[in-house]
Amino acid sequence: MSAGDSGKPADHVGGALEAAASKLGVRTSASRSIARMAEPNALTPRQLDERRLIHRDDSVRQQADAFREIRTRLLALGGDQNFVTMIAPVSPGSGGSFVARNLAAAFAFDEAKTALLIDCNPRHAAQHKALGTEPGPGLIDYLDHPAMGMEPIIHRTGIPRLRLIPSGKPRETSGEYFSSFRMRAALDSLRCRYPDRYLFLDGPAVKGSPDARILSDLADFVVLVAGYGRDTPAAIAQAAAIFDPNRFAGVVFDELP
Ligand SMILES: Nc1ncnc2c1ncn2[C@@H]1O[C@H](COP(=O)(O)OP(=O)(O)OP(=O)(O)O)[C@@H](O)[C@H]1O
Ligand SMILES: [Mg+2]
Repeated sequence: MSAGDSGKPADHVGGALEAAASKLGVRTSASRSIARMAEPNALTPRQLDERRLIHRDDSVRQQADAFREIRTRLLALGGDQNFVTMIAPVSPGSGGSFVARNLAAAFAFDEAKTALLIDCNPRHAAQHKALGTEPGPGLIDYLDHPAMGMEPIIHRTGIPRLRLIPSGKPRETSGEYFSSFRMRAALDSLRCRYPDRYLFLDGPAVKGSPDARILSDLADFVVLVAGYGRDTPAAIAQAAAIFDPNRFAGVVFDELP
């Protein structure tokens, strides 16, 4: 796997920084850190391997370093404030969920940060299975019934400082949910509550549906995931072009097994 800025959109990254900085400036710096969130059932390296997740052992060092590198680049764009990153694959199965999960884990490696991964792909929900979390309600359930509050949808993962909001009840399309006032309000509240919490939206594939673009309106940064040797340069360029260049952070090439 390798990370790279795409040609044209990368030229606008400076703009992204400015836009994000002005937006972030109005956020209140909320309550104390949750950095030392307890994780009583932390997973072993072997269990992390089974979940296709990076960890601190040498066996996965190259991959872990690649995700750390992406983390560093995003942090450079985001400045001092926490932010929302959407990760979306060019086409179904290009590795978007794999990258979203591991990027969130790379942020959670840092003891001063926490990561919240939100599965925003109700058609192909993957993270609850990949992470083996307890069954329970998720994003769609909350958006349908906001009175339930957000606490029941935030699940422990067995990885310190990493939490998951699963997708919840399956849905064929999700654009109406993503463009709703409720969704925006939910993300704002999740982000503003803890200044050390970074949000990762695992989005649907760009090809074949407008949902990824609609979701990207809620993110500060967009990371596009291309299947290495799978998505053609033309398909990657076409997918990149649908996003607001001010939010576009770059392309990650995922070498699928
Ligand atoms: N670099 C990798 N190393 C090992 N396994 C990987 C890698 N990338 C992806 N996979 C595995 O390939 C499968 C498909 O990847 P993933 O679910 O991330 O794709 P996706 O782009 O999110 O697809 P969807 O369109 O369903 O959202 C998963 O089982 C995932 O764990
Ligand atoms: Mg996916």
